[in-house]
Amino acid sequence: MVTATERLTYAAAQAARVAFYGAHYLVARVLARDAFAEIDLKRHSFPSLGATLKGMRLLFEKDLANAEAGLYPLPLDHDGSLPDLLERSRLFFADLPAVHQRREGGQSQEVLNEQTRGKRPRYYLQNFHFQSGGWLTPESAQRYDTQVEVLLYGSANAARRQVLPALHEVFAGRDQRRLRLLDVGCGTGRSLDFCKQVWPRLPAVGIDLSEAYIAEAKRHLRRWGWISLLVANAEAVPLETESQDAVTVNFVFHELPPAVRRIVFGEIARVLKPGGRLVVLDSVQTGDEPDYDGMLELFPQNYHEPYYASYIREDLGALGRACGLTPVGEIKAFVSKVMVFDKHAKS
Ligand SMILES: C[S@@+](CC[C@H](N)C(=O)[O-])C[C@H]1O[C@@H](n2cnc3c(N)ncnc32)[C@H](O)[C@@H]1O
Repeated sequence: MVTATERLTYAAAQAARVAFYGAHYLVARVLARDAFAEIDLKRHSFPSLGATLKGMRLLFEKDLANAEAGLYPLPLDHDGSLPDLLERSRLFFADLPAVHQRREGGQSQEVLNEQTRGKRPRYYLQNFHFQSGGWLTPESAQRYDTQVEVLLYGSANAARRQVLPALHEVFAGRDQRRLRLLDVGCGTGRSLDFCKQVWPRLPAVGIDLSEAYIAEAKRHLRRWGWISLLVANAEAVPLETESQDAVTVNFVFHELPPAVRRIVFGEIARVLKPGGRLVVLDSVQTGDEPDYDGMLELFPQNYHEPYYASYIREDLGALGRACGLTPVGEIKAFVSKVMVFDKHAKS
C-alpha cells in the first residue's frame, strides 16, 4: 500500500529531478546557441511545451501507478549524495565547451586513434553525443547519467522502470533465484539497479563494450549480489544458447548500425530460452507521435547520433520476427517506448 505521504514524496522527488535536469538542459541549450540545427516549423513538427509536459506527467503517473499496483517498490533513483550529484553536474558543465566545439565543427571521430583502432568495432569508436571520450573513458562514464537525464529532462530513470512490468509478467510466481536475466549494453547499470530493487536474488548479467562503463556499473551496483558485469560485444554474447529467461536492451539499438542491430537481435534470440522474453526500451520512432517527428529528424545532428536516422525508420517488429521473436506489446514512456517480444515456447 502506498500512503498519501509516500505519494507526495514521490511527486516532490520527481519534480526536483525535472527542475534540476531541466535547468541543466536550458543552460546547455543557451550555451549551444546557433550550433543547433535550425528548426523550420513548416517542415519540422515539434511538440509544444504543454504537450511535452503532458507526456512527462503521464510517464510519472504510470510510474507511480505501477508502484501502487505492487509491480515494483516506490522508486529510488539512487542519484547519490548531494556532493556526488554536484560533482557529476560539474563534470557535465566542464565538458560543454568541448561538446560545443565538436558540434560547431562537426567533429565526432576523436576517439578513433592509434590506441583504440582495431580494439573495438569501427562504428563504436565515435564521440557519440559529441561527448569527450565517446564511450571509452572513466570521465565519460561519470558524466553519462547526467547527460541522459538532461536530454530527457529528468525522466530517464522513470522510463527505464517501464521495462519492469513486462518482466514482472514472466517472473511473477517463479523462484527468482532460478531465473536468469541479461541486460545488453548495460552502460552504468541504472536499469539493472531497478531490476535488483524488485528481484534482489535474481542472477543477472550485464554486458557492455566499454571497460569504463562496466567499471562505473560495478561501483553503482556494489550493494547488490548475484550480478556479473562483463566487458563484451553484444554481437557475440558470451552466454550459452537458451540460457536466459529474459533479456533487456535499453537505449542501445539506436546506437547501432542497421547490420549490427540484426546481429544483436539474432544473439538475443539465441540466448533466450524457449518461452523467454525480450524487453527493449528505446526512443519513439517516426510516426509513433506525429508531433515528435521533426524533433526526431533533428536530434541526430544536434547530438551526433550516426545511426539514429536509420533507427527511427527501422521495423523492429520485423527484426524480431526474422529471428523467432514475436512482438507482443508496446508501452509509451514519454519520448521513449518499451517494446516486448516473446520467443516461441517449444511444443
Ligand atoms: C546509450 S548507452 C545505454 C546504456 C544503458 N543501457 C542505459 O540504460 O543508459 C549505450 C550503451 O551501449 C553500449 N554499446 C554500444 N555498442 C555495443 C556493443 N556492440 N556491444 C556492447 N555494448 C555496446 C555502449 O558502450 C553504451 O554503454
